[in-house]
Amino acid sequence: MADISLDNALDGDAGRTLAEDVRDGLTRAHKELPPKHLYDSRGAALFDQICELPEYYPTRTERAILERVAAELIAASGASELVELGSGSAAKTRLLLDAMAAAGTLERYVPLDVTERVVRESAAALIREYPGLRVHGLIGDFERHLGRLPPAHGPRLLAFLGGTIGNFAPTQRGRFLRTIAGLLAAGDHLLLGTDLVKDRATLEAAYNDSAGITAEFNRNILRVINRELGASFDPTAFDHVAVFDERNEWIEISLRAREAQEVALPAIALTVHFAAGEELRTQISAKFTRERVAAELAAAGLELVAWHTDARAWFGLSLARAAAA
Ligand SMILES: C[S@@+](CC[C@H](N)C(=O)[O-])C[C@H]1O[C@@H](n2cnc3c(N)ncnc32)[C@H](O)[C@@H]1O
Repeated sequence: MADISLDNALDGDAGRTLAEDVRDGLTRAHKELPPKHLYDSRGAALFDQICELPEYYPTRTERAILERVAAELIAASGASELVELGSGSAAKTRLLLDAMAAAGTLERYVPLDVTERVVRESAAALIREYPGLRVHGLIGDFERHLGRLPPAHGPRLLAFLGGTIGNFAPTQRGRFLRTIAGLLAAGDHLLLGTDLVKDRATLEAAYNDSAGITAEFNRNILRVINRELGASFDPTAFDHVAVFDERNEWIEISLRAREAQEVALPAIALTVHFAAGEELRTQISAKFTRERVAAELAAAGLELVAWHTDARAWFGLSLARAAAA
């Protein structure tokens, strides 16, 4: 029998986290905010639009790889449940669920995302699409709530797609991968999507689309802070900036103040000054090589089992498991 259960780990907690992150991030010498706050319902809808943009190659490249290798990945993992971190609208997830259904192993899907609406809506859609599927949705923060994942019912495939791992700074990323390694029992696998290093023009175009959707997505973080903390940001007073930092091999995404300005944040009793041209970093998106992915997995106690890429080597999908002790 198909069914849904939902667990909201953010209940009563989301506002406090935003307040803490905003106070911490906007009082630093180099202002920055964590990207998870970009994703309210409007931010999630804008991200879905980004995935359809001609310049935004990661989604369609990862999708094409999955179309080619999903059956192979499922056969190699033997998974009966799919846990997905940062699941969003779960568009590409269907390729994995289809492969599990075809292999006769599909039992449960466990999406985890900070955006309540996407977890609720994807859960409702998926139980209609996959008769007999059970969905346990976890509305939460994958940096804080992995302990709320339900106990496994069988071999697990833990998917972290879309290159979202690239949003972590390197130290955080290492810590996160070690936490993931600790979640994998014998027979479980990690499926990790990583965007790969390529020419600057292609990378920068992906985050500077001509329709301005990425710019609107970036400015959405200011709208979230205005709504939740009663702040006085004028989103139109900030330019969207996305450049490839070659030394760090990441795209750095910021909002640059057009003019000097003061922003009031009454809910946290703070006033923040921006100088003309000052930048507020909202996201990094690290780009990888196969060697770096394998090395970072190994450093976290994970072993690369299979590596799949596209003909241009623009995106990498890794299948990994806990390394033998
Ligand atoms: C780059 S999008 C990728 C979405 C989808 N997995 C894909 O591949 O298209 C990142 C997703 O992770 C979610 N997210 C970002 N930070 C998060 C966090 N700290 N905890 C849980 N979800 C998070 C966002 O809401 C969004 O759905």
